[in-house]
Amino acid sequence: MVKEQLKAKNIVITGASGGIGAEIARLCAASKANLVLLARSIDKLKRLKAELEAKYQVRVDVFQLDVSDTDQVQKVFREILARIGDIDILVNNAGFGIFREAHEASMDEMKRMFKVNVIGLMACTSMVLPKMRERRFGQIINIASQAGKIATPKSSVYSATKHAVLGYSNALRMELSDYNIQVTTVNPGPIATNFFDIADEQGTYVKNVQRFMLKPEFVARKVVGSMLTRTREINLPRWMNLGSVVYVLFPRLFERIGKRMLNKK
Ligand SMILES: NC(=O)c1ccc[n+]([C@@H]2O[C@H](COP(=O)([O-])OP(=O)(O)OC[C@H]3O[C@@H](n4cnc5c(N)ncnc54)[C@H](OP(=O)(O)O)[C@@H]3O)[C@@H](O)[C@H]2O)c1
Repeated sequence: MVKEQLKAKNIVITGASGGIGAEIARLCAASKANLVLLARSIDKLKRLKAELEAKYQVRVDVFQLDVSDTDQVQKVFREILARIGDIDILVNNAGFGIFREAHEASMDEMKRMFKVNVIGLMACTSMVLPKMRERRFGQIINIASQAGKIATPKSSVYSATKHAVLGYSNALRMELSDYNIQVTTVNPGPIATNFFDIADEQGTYVKNVQRFMLKPEFVARKVVGSMLTRTREINLPRWMNLGSVVYVLFPRLFERIGKRMLNKK
């Protein structure tokens, strides 16, 4: 997939060392965008940089960043802005989940999930907003989840973080609508990535949902396809999105039936 409009655009991707972040990076590189890739695993980022530079002759900068450390976020983004100038697209993709019932979740787990999935995402966004507003150009793509629309048993904390991402993004979209800055949220259902190594230690969920898991390349194609467009939200798969509409319309019924049917974890 090549998207001509991305040529020479500066795209920053958090959580780019694996999973859908790395796939998004591959497609952006194929479209000749300049990339800045961020994650904690600097070795994986360096390997991806070498792969993309060799294959596509594009510029790829990598920085080690734990998005939950907001001081580090500020430092790294200042360096990025100094090095590449303007950021055209920010993809807030870094995130993780731990599937556990609320009464079993530790304080540390709850804080970590919110620090990475919510505070980290907001911190990165804050760092690109002033310049984007000044230029009246840009796009912020926030990877949320279907868990941000449909809460299910054992995903209370993770789901709360993704609901927070959607709330933040919706307000942001309205704030930025007069500045020609698009805010796109992405709500995928289960994707076959390493996400479940942490989220689903027992492997129960993966076993139960294996047959309808999305491929990371497919999700990445949808995300890159939305770049520099006015896409508001991407919901995948479509039938799961229908579920979230039914949830809003008939919440009691949905929760009564869903308690059993959606408890795949
Ligand atoms: N897989 C799914 O079923 C699914 C479904 C819906 C939404 N999502 C969302 O999609 C996004 C990507 O997930 P994925 O499926 O691609 O999972 P993944 O393969 O585990 O990748 C997660 C990425 O986030 C990075 N990351 C995690 N913690 C970080 C931190 N503190 N600071 C910086 N980077 C961090 C990881 O890099 P390092 O470990 O190197 O830092 C990695 O590159 C997440 O936001 C996730 O919530 C996933």
